[in-house]
Amino acid sequence: MSLKEGDYVLLLTSDGKSYLVEIKDHNFHTHKDYLNLKDLIDKNYGEIIYGKKGEKFYILKPAIYDFLMKIERITQIVYPKDIGYILLKLDIGPGKTVLECGGGSGALTSAFAYIVGEEGKVISYEKEPKFQEVAKKNLKKLGISHRVVFKNIEVLESFEEKEVDAVFLDLKTPWVLIKASWEALKGGHPLGILVPTANQVSQCLLEIEKNPFIDVEVVEILLRHYKTNPERLRPEDRMVAHTGYLIFAKKVFEK
Ligand SMILES: C[S@@+](CC[C@H](N)C(=O)[O-])C[C@H]1O[C@@H](n2cnc3c(N)ncnc32)[C@H](O)[C@@H]1O
Repeated sequence: MSLKEGDYVLLLTSDGKSYLVEIKDHNFHTHKDYLNLKDLIDKNYGEIIYGKKGEKFYILKPAIYDFLMKIERITQIVYPKDIGYILLKLDIGPGKTVLECGGGSGALTSAFAYIVGEEGKVISYEKEPKFQEVAKKNLKKLGISHRVVFKNIEVLESFEEKEVDAVFLDLKTPWVLIKASWEALKGGHPLGILVPTANQVSQCLLEIEKNPFIDVEVVEILLRHYKTNPERLRPEDRMVAHTGYLIFAKKVFEK
């Protein structure tokens, strides 16, 4: 199916830079060249479009990964390397109801909403209205904001929901909401937490111990990219050394 106004494409240049753009009547500039994005109409993913100065742009289908890496952000976000593991550990899939606290810019919200499908639901608590507005904009871009119930609430003690399939906490002091998470979860279902520092992990573990949670896990996920020259295969010189620690546990009724 050929491209139309309002579609998103990933434009990749020969020097490996990529740009996520929406097709509309707009002049799009890079440091080397420019083109009018409406010239993408009726082209197909996989084809090439040339800039006005002759630069080649490959027209690629943006993956959810590209949307997340290029998301408009005004908070720290959860990165794809962590999101992949979070989705599997929390058993997120079509039809699930997942509750998150600390919606921020909506990176993790986007991934949850993408995976739960039309039958599922994401409940996203965020205390700052301006952050939540950015998250809503980001979800709209993906066309899945209707799968999210945005709650502009500062959660202090408890959530409004019960019997959800999974809870994820991404805020500075997640330990204050561990009891609330237990109350919101279905029995046997998982809680996930992301924190950037080790002392926050300790505080979470102390609080998890006080509540009926078992199967506790703490992990850190490291991702190393490689240069793709087959004759000189070696890691990239730089890597993101740390994003955060992940903590997981499951709700039981007694320990
Ligand atoms: C690191 S950001 C979350 C990033 C988000 N998970 C993402 O992937 O884009 C943490 C967010 O938690 C929000 N927050 C902190 N405490 C909160 C609370 N008690 N209730 C609701 N939101 C809270 C902050 O305003 C901030 O936006």
